[in-house]
Amino acid sequence: MTNPVLDAIYRRRSVREFTPEPVSLAQLQEIVRAGTWAPSGLNNQPWRFVLISDPQIRERLAEQTSYRKVVLAAPALIAVFLDQEAIYDQVKDHQAAGACIQNMLLGAEALGLGAVWLGQILKNKEQVRQILALDERMDLMAVIALGHPIPRQRRSQRKTLDEFILKII
Ligand SMILES: Cc1cc2nc3c(=O)[nH]c(=O)nc-3n(C[C@H](O)[C@H](O)[C@H](O)COP(=O)(O)O)c2cc1C
Repeated sequence: MTNPVLDAIYRRRSVREFTPEPVSLAQLQEIVRAGTWAPSGLNNQPWRFVLISDPQIRERLAEQTSYRKVVLAAPALIAVFLDQEAIYDQVKDHQAAGACIQNMLLGAEALGLGAVWLGQILKNKEQVRQILALDERMDLMAVIALGHPIPRQRRSQRKTLDEFILKII
């Protein structure tokens, strides 16, 4: 079976090595647009984004994570937040943020870019919020590091379906 959506889902790999070629604002906006077309409970669209290309800000953000090298290598970052004033249900709004982030990863893949979802940086989410000069109501969900991938084989593994499907009834 070939299908462009399924192909992108299966082809996408986390990319942590990038060429220095910049990511255009138009590409970043397209990726954010893909994120905003994720489903959200009551269609409340609680996600907010900061698009970062500024080298000095990237350097400061790199100091907030053990994935420093990935952040420094990436010509662009997108920080994804939940607006605490837009949320209505903690679980459902966090689920929506995850759907949004996955849409963005697939959007990057569709544009021929590479991306990785950085979660480890959440341990310093307050510092990230302050570096980006955002209001306290913005709760960091992830930083996506983006760029043109250095071409190389990237492998990942998944367990078999039998290990996930509890019952077929
Ligand atoms: C919630 C979450 C947090 C993650 N945090 C990091 C991270 O901090 N650093 C990193 O390099 N990758 C991170 N990843 C990427 C995973 O390591 C990656 O998706 C996983 O190993 C599977 O590889 P694949 O994306 O190539 O299929 C994160 C992924 C998720 C969903």
